[in-house]
Amino acid sequence: MTSHAYLAQLFSLDGRTALVTGGSSGIGRAIAGALARAGASVVIVARREAELASTVDELLADGCRAAWVSGDLSTRDGVRSAGERAAEVYGEPDILVNSAGVNLRPPMGEVGEEVWDATMAVNLEAPFLLGERFGPGMAERGFGRIIHVTSQQAHRAFVQSGAYGVSKGGLESLARSQAEAWSSSGVTCNTLVPGFVLTPLNARLQSDPETVAGLAARTMVGRNGLADDFAGAAVFLASAASGYVTGHSLFVDGGLSVH
Ligand SMILES: NC(=O)c1ccc[n+]([C@@H]2O[C@H](COP(=O)([O-])OP(=O)(O)OC[C@H]3O[C@@H](n4cnc5c(N)ncnc54)[C@H](OP(=O)(O)O)[C@@H]3O)[C@@H](O)[C@H]2O)c1
Repeated sequence: MTSHAYLAQLFSLDGRTALVTGGSSGIGRAIAGALARAGASVVIVARREAELASTVDELLADGCRAAWVSGDLSTRDGVRSAGERAAEVYGEPDILVNSAGVNLRPPMGEVGEEVWDATMAVNLEAPFLLGERFGPGMAERGFGRIIHVTSQQAHRAFVQSGAYGVSKGGLESLARSQAEAWSSSGVTCNTLVPGFVLTPLNARLQSDPETVAGLAARTMVGRNGLADDFAGAAVFLASAASGYVTGHSLFVDGGLSVH
């Protein structure tokens, strides 16, 4: 067997279909690109059409199969509609990645019901509803991969964790509940845990060079995360290679969490 054939057996996503929420920006965009370049037919879901279209154009130019669906994951109807429209493109997904997220940062005492609801809707409820929509079908077909993008704030407080940290803690638990439900049917459910990644999500924090340098110094690698750091971990968790890895939280954080 050639090394290429061996690696393909472990990691190729040829013939797989994937749905990536938040696939038009930052970490989700890098993950969508990695899955598509590894062979999956990828549908990305987010709201803004220009960002969706430019992401898909880049993938098509690279010879990938990719499409986009514009949808708002902050309401239950929006999630249901986006899920159905996404599944129409290449069929029911084998791989579901929940990367769409919002980080509203009022301190705990000022969170209020509006921020709480908005945070839980996108960060926790949408992944739950999409899991309910696609998890049972994956289990029936005997293969599935559910990957949630959580946060170090699922594990500890960090810069006004507020409602955001709570939603991400819930998402870690959701992955375990889903893993418990469907792993015996070939559906693994895991989380990718970023530290501080230079994406549009935390543009405000990035505007202070001292903060950026301070955070880089807290990692072991010595730099902050880049969206592309998630490519290899995502392909691993989406592929046959990770069939015995489930209910796991994979920290892609340069050692921040253990430093
Ligand atoms: N960057 C970090 O340091 C960091 C650290 C820990 C965890 N994370 C997590 O990593 C994930 C990705 O974050 P990122 O840094 O890559 O952020 P990002 O670049 O801001 O991307 C967020 C994505 O979510 C989509 N989105 C947001 N609200 C949505 C809604 N209501 N409906 C549909 N799509 C929506 C955005 O598209 P539209 O705005 O067009 O809808 C965008 O595609 C998030 O879950 C975040 O919590 C990031």
